[in-house]
Formats: sequence, C-alpha cells, structure tokens
Amino acid sequence: MPVPFVDLSAQYRSIKEQIDQALADVIDRCAFVGGETVQQFEQDFSLYCGINADGNDVELHCTSCGNGTDALYLAIRALGIGPGDEVITVAPTFIASAEAITLTGAAPVFIDVHRDTLLMDVDLIEPAITERTKAIMPVHLYGQPCDMQGINAIAARHNLKVVVDAAQAHGATFEGKRPGALSDVACFSFYPGKNLGAYGDGGAVVSGDRELIQKIKMLSNHGRLEKYTHQIEGVNSRLDGMQAAVLSVKLRYLNQWNQARRSHAARYIEALTDSDLTLATTDPRTDPVWHLFVVRSTGRDALAAKLKQQQIATGVHYPIPLHLQPAYGYVNLPAGSLPVTEQAASQVLSLPMFAELTDQQIDQVVLALQAGS
Ligand SMILES: Cc1ncc(COP(=O)(O)O)c(C=O)c1O
Repeated sequence: MPVPFVDLSAQYRSIKEQIDQALADVIDRCAFVGGETVQQFEQDFSLYCGINADGNDVELHCTSCGNGTDALYLAIRALGIGPGDEVITVAPTFIASAEAITLTGAAPVFIDVHRDTLLMDVDLIEPAITERTKAIMPVHLYGQPCDMQGINAIAARHNLKVVVDAAQAHGATFEGKRPGALSDVACFSFYPGKNLGAYGDGGAVVSGDRELIQKIKMLSNHGRLEKYTHQIEGVNSRLDGMQAAVLSVKLRYLNQWNQARRSHAARYIEALTDSDLTLATTDPRTDPVWHLFVVRSTGRDALAAKLKQQQIATGVHYPIPLHLQPAYGYVNLPAGSLPVTEQAASQVLSLPMFAELTDQQIDQVVLALQAGS
C-alpha cells in the first residue's frame, strides 16, 4: 500500500461537514475580506497561543495576514528594523525566513545550528552580534522549539528583539509556553500542509505587545485601521474570510492532531532507536509538534530511492541551506562555513508524518527503512 508524505484529503474527510458549513456561511454573508470571521479567528488563535501548560495563561494578541512570509516581514518591519540593520538567523530553513529580513532592507546573518537538534546554536549568537544587530530570528524547525531561555537571555543582554519563525510549530511548547508567549513576536504560516493549515495561503503574528500587533495590522492593510485614513504606507496582506473560517474549525482539532503526531513520532523513535539512522534529540524542556519527522542517514539519497520503490513518499527539508543558495551568494559564506548545517543538508530525510497516519503505515515505513539502511 502506498504511504503518502501527507494526506490533506483524509483530514478534510474527517471534518467535511463543519468545513463545508463554515465556507457556505462565509459565502452566504459575502464576508470575503476582513470582518467578523477573521476577527474571531484572530481572537481564537491568540487565546490558543496564550495557554500555558501550568495554567498561568498569558494574554496575547494576534493579527492575521496573507501568508507566513508576510507575517515575518511585517513583524520585523513593525519593530523598526530596516536598511543597515542585521538579523541573526539560521540557514537550514525555508527561504522565507531570510526573505522576510531582506524585504525590510535588513541583512540576514546566518549562524550554524546545534548538532543534536539542528536548531539555532545559542553559543554562536554572541560572536555574530555587531553594532548593526537588531534582532535574533530563531526558527522552530520541524515543530521543535528552540532554546528560548538561552536566546532570550542573550537578547536581553544586548537589547535585541526576538522574532520567532513558528511557521512549523503551532502549539509546540518550551517550558509549557507556546510560541508568542516567549518572544517579542512569533510568526505563523497556515500553508495547507502545516500543522494548522488553511485551504490556501494564510499567516498570523502573535505577541503580548498590543501596540505592536496594531501596527502590524495597520501595515498589512494599506497602513490603515479605518477605511479612508492611511496613517502610513503599508501593503495588502490580509487573511480572507474563507481561510479564517477553515482555520477556526481546524483550530478546534489542533491539539488532537498534534497529539496524534506525537504518538506517531514516539512509534517511529521506538522502532528506529537501534537502527543506523540518527534521530533528532529533543530538548526535555520542550514538547515538539512534529511538523516533520526527520532522520539522518549518510546514505540518504539511496535510502529515499529505496523507499520510493516501495511507494513510500519522503521529503528533504532542506537539501540546500540558505547560505549556499544562489540567491544568497552575496552573503559570502562559502561551502564549509556552517559545517553542522551543511552536513545535515546532505543527510536529512523527512518521513511520512500527518495526524491521520496509521500504525500500519508507520510500521511499513520502519520495515522499509530497516531493509534499506
Ligand atoms: C520555516 C518557515 N518559515 C516561513 C515559511 C513561510 O510561510 P508561507 O509559505 O506561508 O509564506 C514557511 C512555510 O512555508 C516555513 O516552513
């Protein structure tokens, strides 16, 4: 039986009636852009992000936008970061993380990741700080939260902002807190394949700073909060009513789906611990949401080909780190500059991972891996 990498239609089938009803309702009301549906989702999502495992919930605010790239861009711009400034980030990520920085006119500064987690290596942040540095952008890659304690301590010492790229980490926690509660701002993507995915593009910014969120809301809607008055020049980056309606329905299932991903990850880990594959180490202070389940193998390409022969789909996130992408030739970080990042890029293999994955499918993947590695 083929094992897909993700199965969005299985998820749709499980909540079809509610989704169809929510979409029909938006169409009935012709509430296509802005309005109540979008506001309701923003409120629901800010409450969701503010929930703390120990019951001490945090008051957060949310504004939605057109996609995750814009969420990052608008957040950085609203923090007053722009030409001449630097933002420290990592290279094993989707290009959007760095694009958002350059879109504001600032420059990305790539540092290496930690060998065990493939997340920002906190020990490398301070050596990268210059008088131009304005912010740190950790990426919660694969749904695993970065070391927010270490990052926040450095940010506080150097008066830097922390902008979290949480595009892959809806609901993940660090010391019980979700993204948005532990940084100046956290930015989310609702691209369809994400843990919380729309039926098109979507994004959001979450922060405890109400004024910052208002500024981002204004920037995302042509610089206005009222119809005819434009305080500043902004852009058009809005979540539409249909996407907000879908997201509000799906948000109700996010914990359940993340829990399913956690149990799939546990099954993979148990089966693969003694194999030749390297598994990611999870920081015990975190509860990841396994957007991707990634193993490392020195024979990655051959292994992926063997799985493909058995109709098991895999992915590589990401085969070319950003500093080696043609688009970032100008940053002048030749091959060898970020050794952990570069080695990981040649070894990482993402296995099928989605809430509706069955135990039989996981066992099938494991058997194929054991035969192939
Ligand atoms: C780590 C990361 N950052 C940013 C983005 C950008 O999000 P979007 O595709 O919604 O613009 C994505 C998703 O594609 C991502 O995975």
